[in-house]
Amino acid sequence: MTDVNAESVTELVQGGLDRREARWLVEEFGSNDEALQAAARRRRDGEPLQYVIGHWPFCSLDLDVDERVLIPRPESEELVSVALTEILRTDISEPLIMDLGCGSGAIGLALLDELRTLGVAATLVAVDESLDAIALAQRNALKHELLAVTFVHSSWFDDVDPSLHARVDLIVANPPYVGDEEFAELDPVLRYEPRGAIVAPDASGVTGFADLEIIIAQAMTWLKPGGVLVCEHANTHRDAVIGATRSAGFSDVRDLDDLAGHPRMMVARR
Ligand SMILES: C[S@@+](CC[C@H](N)C(=O)[O-])C[C@H]1O[C@@H](n2cnc3c(N)ncnc32)[C@H](O)[C@@H]1O
Repeated sequence: MTDVNAESVTELVQGGLDRREARWLVEEFGSNDEALQAAARRRRDGEPLQYVIGHWPFCSLDLDVDERVLIPRPESEELVSVALTEILRTDISEPLIMDLGCGSGAIGLALLDELRTLGVAATLVAVDESLDAIALAQRNALKHELLAVTFVHSSWFDDVDPSLHARVDLIVANPPYVGDEEFAELDPVLRYEPRGAIVAPDASGVTGFADLEIIIAQAMTWLKPGGVLVCEHANTHRDAVIGATRSAGFSDVRDLDDLAGHPRMMVARR
């Protein structure tokens, strides 16, 4: 970093920004003082750094992110890694993957990219009920030249092409799973993210479980025999998720902790 840029960092720190964040902003906007000051103002006003910068790393990708989508989380990088292991365990040459609630495209596109690197030509069906999210996910797919993707505007499976029944190798989902009341107690910075990406109604007496319940109940008929469902869930959902997958008829069910040691990822094989 040049002296001039170091000076800009110091100014932003004196204005109240964290030094590491100030450096990132200067690296991103340092050549345009007006843009830098505007970005610093947005950050000082509380907007998440990822939205202010406008793009953020996720697995192997640099994804465009803005207020239309959830900021992809590190736990979801773990989900990608678990899903990748599952898909590679089967010996399928051209896997068909479905990403439910694709948001920025993070999970599905990261899987396609990892598989491309391994020489595996996968196809992705990326589903979201938010047209805004789909628009951004499409942009991310183009940005990374991941073209084997069909985007579907749908509430979960409702408007997915019925000809895909029993043809999907992997369904991966990071649905909303925070309860209404829990949301009120979370860090206010989350209010910048789309509420519909975070909050789910309660179901079967379980807080924030409604979307997971639908996905688990319906996934079986879309999976090939041997196909896998991998879902991220709240750390309070382990028993509910295992119960729902067993009721849906999945035989081989595991639930894994995230790196912080919290119950987080369910893996169920048809
Ligand atoms: C937790 S975000 C996950 C986004 C992205 N997969 C990620 O991990 O960063 C949940 C996503 O599900 C979408 N969503 C919420 N309800 C939905 C529904 N009924 N059908 C389809 N997508 C839905 C939201 O728009 C949001 O993009």
